[in-house]
Amino acid sequence: MTNIFDNVPDKRQDKNTTSLKFKRDLIDFFGEDYKDKTCLEIGTHRGYTTKILSSLFEKVITCEVNKDLQDFAKVVNKDNTNVEFLLKDVYNTSWDFNDIDVVFIDCDHEISSVLKDIKNAISLCKPNDSILIVFDDYGLVNPWEGVKEAIAKYDNDHRFQIIREIGEPKGSDCNPRANLRDVEGVICKYTDYGDGSNIVFLPTIDLGNNRNSSYKYAVDSWKNWCDKNNCELLVWDELILPIEEMKITWQRYYLFDILNSNEINYNQILMVDADTIVHPDCPNFFELSDMKYCGVMNNGDYEWVNRSIKGFGELLFDNKTIHPSTYINGGFQIVNKKHEKFFDIMKTYYEENSDNIKESIKVLETATDQTILNFMLKINNIDVKVLPDCFNLQDLARKNLLYIHESCFWGDVLDNLYSSGWVYHFNGIPGNDMERDASYWMKRVYEELYT
Ligand SMILES: C[S@@+](CC[C@H](N)C(=O)[O-])C[C@H]1O[C@@H](n2cnc3c(N)ncnc32)[C@H](O)[C@@H]1O
Repeated sequence: MTNIFDNVPDKRQDKNTTSLKFKRDLIDFFGEDYKDKTCLEIGTHRGYTTKILSSLFEKVITCEVNKDLQDFAKVVNKDNTNVEFLLKDVYNTSWDFNDIDVVFIDCDHEISSVLKDIKNAISLCKPNDSILIVFDDYGLVNPWEGVKEAIAKYDNDHRFQIIREIGEPKGSDCNPRANLRDVEGVICKYTDYGDGSNIVFLPTIDLGNNRNSSYKYAVDSWKNWCDKNNCELLVWDELILPIEEMKITWQRYYLFDILNSNEINYNQILMVDADTIVHPDCPNFFELSDMKYCGVMNNGDYEWVNRSIKGFGELLFDNKTIHPSTYINGGFQIVNKKHEKFFDIMKTYYEENSDNIKESIKVLETATDQTILNFMLKINNIDVKVLPDCFNLQDLARKNLLYIHESCFWGDVLDNLYSSGWVYHFNGIPGNDMERDASYWMKRVYEELYT
């Protein structure tokens, strides 16, 4: 019986091919799962890895510029009828391939060539689909920049991820020229989100006051919800400006700058506070937005809301007012590309009035950005769609949904909370003898719903 490894060399025997470990790792990774899929190999050489690929895929298309090498590879693969050999200069012709599931890039290892390979491979990814890109010689020592540096250019691209290291480890002597400076190869996944995925943007910045210790429950619950609803979770944990200069709640209006500078493609974005837990069965609220600016009414403490509107109205908005019935909570805002301009207006307003804003926040002690946001939405005629309370169920203690005192006439259970809403916002919880603060409730609700 013939073995697919018969006459297949290691990198130590032929430095142009992959190591035997790399080849075995390909078999481990793809197994039986890709038997109905197509792999495109860029750089056939003598067809040694092609031979392994041909056993893993329904079809392999392999490109080589050198006719002699291609002829050699054909002999090596004489029994593999699922291999299509193309004599093709991959850098000077277009990649007009269809239905490719995996691209194996192993051609010219100079950075500019690898970047072309990556770009071409990505262009083969279908909308709302993923493509795997396998790289050899990731850890190769080059006198020039190579595969590793090319991949590093995608470090901040959330669509592109290294998902597996394969082949010989860092330091291996498999290449006669020099020991590897990193693992031999990597498998990457590129995901196309079509017009951009919906994103949940969650600020979890550590201000050293231990408030963020329970944010991990928010992160985990939102991650679960995003996975279930085909959305992306973006956790924001780095301040843009010092907190003394601008409160975090204001810094979130840099949302589009963050997305753009990281080249994140998006459709709609939910900006949600980190003192929230989402129920695993929460419906997909992005589908309710009508692509408008969405929020949820701030229906909690109306004394606080009225005082805040009056205070900011007097100090910053020429005694203008807004009605509490149109006042949304800042902890759950859905926006899209159309609202980038409005966020610019918010940032400019802050820049031009920062001293007054800071002073007003200090004097009024009612809100940081939220009341000003509501004034600005009105002044700028932003079409706001108000979503049902269940998507930002807030001020929960005031709603008799939390058991925070022995004298509470309802039981110490959370059934009413779960039946009343989908997103639980643990704000406004008064200090209590039971020491059940937001952190306590976030941990408890997360554990009840997710463990
Ligand atoms: C590192 S070897 C490929 C090794 C092979 N994948 C294996 O694992 O055994 C790179 C190959 O790319 C080929 N190549 C270089 N430039 C090319 C180009 N412009 N178009 C197509 N093939 C090219 C080289 O001739 C060489 O055979």
